[in-house]
Amino acid sequence: MSTPAGTTERYQSALMNTFGPPKLVLTRGRGTHVWDEDGNEYVDLLGGIAVNALGHGHPALVEAVTEQLSTLGHISNFFASEPQIALAEKLLSLVAQGDGKVFFTNSGTEANEAAFKLTRRTGRTHLVAMTGSFHGRTMGSLALTAKEAYRAPFEPLPGEVTFVPYGDAAALAAAVTDETAAIVIEPIQGEAGVVVPPDGFLAAARAVADEHGALLWFDEVQSGMGRTGRWLASQAAGVTPDVLTLAKGLGGGFPIGACLGLGRAATLFEPGNHGTTFGGNPVACAAALAVITTIEDDGLLEHVAVLGQKLRDGLAADPRVSEVTGEGLFVGVVLTEDRAADVAAAALRAGFIVNNATPARIRLAPPLVLTAEDAEAFLRAWPTILEEAFA
Ligand SMILES: Cc1ncc(COP(=O)(O)O)c(C=O)c1O
Repeated sequence: MSTPAGTTERYQSALMNTFGPPKLVLTRGRGTHVWDEDGNEYVDLLGGIAVNALGHGHPALVEAVTEQLSTLGHISNFFASEPQIALAEKLLSLVAQGDGKVFFTNSGTEANEAAFKLTRRTGRTHLVAMTGSFHGRTMGSLALTAKEAYRAPFEPLPGEVTFVPYGDAAALAAAVTDETAAIVIEPIQGEAGVVVPPDGFLAAARAVADEHGALLWFDEVQSGMGRTGRWLASQAAGVTPDVLTLAKGLGGGFPIGACLGLGRAATLFEPGNHGTTFGGNPVACAAALAVITTIEDDGLLEHVAVLGQKLRDGLAADPRVSEVTGEGLFVGVVLTEDRAADVAAAALRAGFIVNNATPARIRLAPPLVLTAEDAEAFLRAWPTILEEAFA
């Protein structure tokens, strides 16, 4: 008689192998903590990759989703619902003083796909994107994603895309022409390992876009919605884009994305130009409203800024760390050697979930509700984790 297969074996036999073997099978979460199927507890310093803004099982999110699902769960986009309208108004008030319009999606890549199509409505087709960029896995988003390993198996990709070195304002100015539809930039690059551009880069991008009549598109799918201690990472530079894409933390774990068109980009789509079945779903919009309300009511932007600074200072104190990048609770740790995979493994053994974004960079993107106690526990464990990884 064969023994029943374990959960990991069942995963591997039933799911397509796009992610490799899972590190753990998780069964439940509460706050910033999660538990695996053997009952081991972990501090979740990755938050579903910058998604679980309110941690796991936050009562405001649970209540909002439950209430909306039992009132009106889904309607088609032939109809409107109050949560959808209220969320669009709220987002516009947070990021653009109300001047713009929103298209809702279910994910980051779909938000970018909508934005990509929006740029085509300018009548131009040339796009300028950045080295190190990540914008998602659908064909349009992939066309803007720099990493060769992700692109090569799927070429030819749509669009005429020129890549310029991230942060290089002169190269950007040289690449943009009067034929350029848009410049797409992550104000802080997440998948590249929380890479921050030099001061003045976003403002330079704004100026060059204006000079050539191109749209400036910020992808804040990962950096947005409070992660940096501001609603948007780009607000630190005081630069407003024409197109803004959001997802990840927006729904706090409930799938939702958004493409915002500001100024002239607000009205580029006409009826029939784009669509979605699930985008703008009332439950997803209620979830996002609950996330935003909680961030506001609990003063989480301030909390993220203060605790993030302490966390980053503490991580930087070890000599095996050459630099700590990022803002708020969007943290990149640059190691002196290519040991990030070993560090992530050692952290997991010590009960902390972190991510090896690149061979030498660790990424942390914990829930915005991370407690000082959990941050301190990680800082206490940090030297031992590094010691084990560098052995
Ligand atoms: C900046 C950025 N854009 C887009 C995406 C794609 O989002 P999703 O995985 O929800 O499609 C990601 C995901 O990591 C991202 O970091």
